[in-house]
Amino acid sequence: MDRIVSLCKRRGFIFPSSEIYGGLGSCYDYGPLGVELKRNIKDFWWTGMTQKRDDIEGVDAAILMHPKVWEASGHVSGFTDPMVDCRTCKARFRADTLDEARCPRKPSKSPLENKCDLTEPRMFNLMFKTFMGPVEEDSAIVFLRPETAQGIYVNFHNVQGPSRQKIPFGIAQIGKAFRNEITPGNFIFRTREFEQMEMQYFIHPSEDAKWFDYWKEQRWQYYLDLGIRKEKLRMHEHAEDELAHYAKNAVDVEYEYPFGWKELEGIHNRTDFDLTRHHETSGKDMRYFDNERQEKYIPCIIETSAGCDRTLLTVLVDAYREEEVKGEKRVVMSISPKIAPVKVGVFPLVKKDGMPEIAIDVYHDLKQQFKCFYDDGGAVGRRYRRQDEAGTPFCVTVDGQTKEDETVTVRERDSMNQDRVKISDLKKVIGEKVLM
Ligand code: GAP
Repeated sequence: MDRIVSLCKRRGFIFPSSEIYGGLGSCYDYGPLGVELKRNIKDFWWTGMTQKRDDIEGVDAAILMHPKVWEASGHVSGFTDPMVDCRTCKARFRADTLDEARCPRKPSKSPLENKCDLTEPRMFNLMFKTFMGPVEEDSAIVFLRPETAQGIYVNFHNVQGPSRQKIPFGIAQIGKAFRNEITPGNFIFRTREFEQMEMQYFIHPSEDAKWFDYWKEQRWQYYLDLGIRKEKLRMHEHAEDELAHYAKNAVDVEYEYPFGWKELEGIHNRTDFDLTRHHETSGKDMRYFDNERQEKYIPCIIETSAGCDRTLLTVLVDAYREEEVKGEKRVVMSISPKIAPVKVGVFPLVKKDGMPEIAIDVYHDLKQQFKCFYDDGGAVGRRYRRQDEAGTPFCVTVDGQTKEDETVTVRERDSMNQDRVKISDLKKVIGEKVLM
């Protein structure tokens, strides 16, 4: 993890938020490469969920929602973690993961191993509160949403009506969520501000088992398509005592991070819990009239809930390789070309003999279609290494032969193989590999 964190800083993927002031507890900013990678991950999810399917619509709901939403959803009463304090060092830990925590006085030991003087567990609500309007009084309290899902549920009829979708159908959303985590950590794995990519699939109550299995398969395949190594992925079925307050069954897609197997995405059978709660609390009819079945009912929901930042961390961890090439260490980020932040590096072999002029023309032409980077600084080998660390899948080099036959070399990042390609074929050759 230390090497990945350091590469992220060095290459401009991710750095601590407000770093010049010493950072802010587990908040991070994305730099030039990080923001491109994040956008590509979101696009990959969004394209797969909405553009390539006919049965899922998108929505973008406000982060601030009516406080009653969180009463209805059960988050005001139930979105809590048990917390304990150490009387000696004043550190705060989650009571249910004490064995994973580290005592600040002895970071090699957990508070249990260190026999810390801990208080009795207290329940702590994870929602961030803020005030709406100029008066800081109780009636104006609103919450920063802890999940994007509720913005979909309350809009069920607003989306279903105009889109003329029929059950079964889904609604997808990407957006920020906030949780006042007691013990955030492991870089961007658990933070207090993060983005979710959630899809809620509305179904007839009799079909919940079928659609739960369907979405488990879809989401498994999604991570393989994203280029994540199969042997680093597994599914974890939740036992009864692990289930969230809204779920009848749940399965996590887990990844083997350097700090162990952890949840990457949750797939939940939320039954009709959420729409029933909003039906009762708002007094608005959340039922759906099923023309084919000639039946009015509250739909059940199968949810797929992925963390965007956590997916990005998974992509980085999975892609990181150290290799030895001609006696030198090469660090290469084998990120799938579909989501790589920069698709093409364009170089003149040397800064003379008309090569830079041609390389600049090639660069301006390619950047109409792909995110490109032009580099003429230093030996070409060093320029390749810089792009390897950035995860750039292709480097195009203009050399002495280019003037003669209008070809360039295209170097592939992982194999380091070089092919000669006609300049006029570059967009096609590269496009085939990077299109989602
Ligand atoms: N709507 C259901 C829901 O929010 P969850 O299992 O609490 O379910 C879903 O969260 C996903 O959101 C997780 O699998 C993870 O990828 C991401 N996530 C949750 N809390 C997070 C945090 N504190 N930091 C980063 N990602 C988080």
